[in-house]
Amino acid sequence: MKAPRILLIVGGGIAAYKACELVRLIRKGGGSVTCVLTNGGAHFVTAMTLAALSENPVHTTLWDLKNEAEMGHIQLSRQADLVVVCPATADLLARMAAGIADDLASTLLLATDKPVLAVPAMNVRMWQHAATRRNVATLRGDGVQVLEPDEGPMACGEFGPGRLPEPVVIWAAIEASLGKYNEHLPLTGKHVLVTAGPTHEPIDPVRYIANRSSGKQGFAIAEAAAIAGARVTLVAGPVVLPTPTGVDRVDVESAREMADAVEAALPADIAVLVAAVADWRAAEYTGRKIKKNGAGPPALALAENPDILAGLAKSNRRPSLLVGFAAETNNVLEHAAEKRLRKGVDWIVANDVSGDVMGGALNTVHIVTAHGTESLPEMPKSDVARALVARIADAFA
Ligand code: C5P
Repeated sequence: MKAPRILLIVGGGIAAYKACELVRLIRKGGGSVTCVLTNGGAHFVTAMTLAALSENPVHTTLWDLKNEAEMGHIQLSRQADLVVVCPATADLLARMAAGIADDLASTLLLATDKPVLAVPAMNVRMWQHAATRRNVATLRGDGVQVLEPDEGPMACGEFGPGRLPEPVVIWAAIEASLGKYNEHLPLTGKHVLVTAGPTHEPIDPVRYIANRSSGKQGFAIAEAAAIAGARVTLVAGPVVLPTPTGVDRVDVESAREMADAVEAALPADIAVLVAAVADWRAAEYTGRKIKKNGAGPPALALAENPDILAGLAKSNRRPSLLVGFAAETNNVLEHAAEKRLRKGVDWIVANDVSGDVMGGALNTVHIVTAHGTESLPEMPKSDVARALVARIADAFA
């Protein structure tokens, strides 16, 4: 694909500072950026910053006659492959939805014949207001792609949906959009196998060995892979999570059931094994409830479970890209690098689970490959999923 050209409209919100990082990522990803700064945006970042990062002139006003002679607003709006509005404020979304053209940004948005991706960021009440809901629905109906904002603490001190997604995630969405507008999703035709959640290892009919895995990260990866066009099989341990749209789900309880389900789902082009598989199971399963008999606690003998990931790495049906996870509480990167080699997998996604990652909404991961380690900032698990799937798509590009 030739280098994508992005027209980036920077609206007036505190999240505008993240647009600077986005410019850097687009350029790092091989794209070129031309920035348009609204009056509001100029209160948060300067044209100088965006010009320096994009190495292109920044456009700020419709009434720049010299500019109008050299490059009219119609031409500016059409020479890009994709128009990105980031941050898209409530006001900008409203003016886009109403078709208002009273400044450079809104005029370009009305004049463009190119796909538009809007990345909203605003206060949670503004995002949830009926007027904004209506405007977003109108824009989506008009074919504008409107990303969902992240949920979390906001600059204004409130909590909820309305935060700008991390720049790496916006870049992944840009890449996905460019792929889509090329009529080809990045993982079309690929079969992606994902495992997620804990396993439950029965001791007797009422007791089992478990762990704190919620399945959220694995489910998010399955969803992101499906959005990227893959056929997805999700082998899920016991969790209460809705099945992502377009994903084939196989529910299992124990590690051995998970191993069988993984085997049955092969062949796959890509496997991402996220599940926190129990290392051990009760060596003997008693069909009857073990009773307290006054003789003290019973001994619980353990047997080792199959290592599904290591087994898949050795299998003659090994997927061409095999990704494992490593939940660690100390020396995260060292253990991950060691695990990658020992288990014979291509990538290990390492995360530090010493905090409340297990069951929580946020994750901080490091992607360890043969070429080195990429550390991503702390972000929602859905964003981690999108970023990982973007890298998987790159590996197959
Ligand atoms: O060795 P450890 O359990 O830390 O390895 C974690 C990785 O291995 C994860 O990708 C997990 O899904 C996978 N695994 C597995 N089968 C096991 C244990 C772990 O597939 N029995």
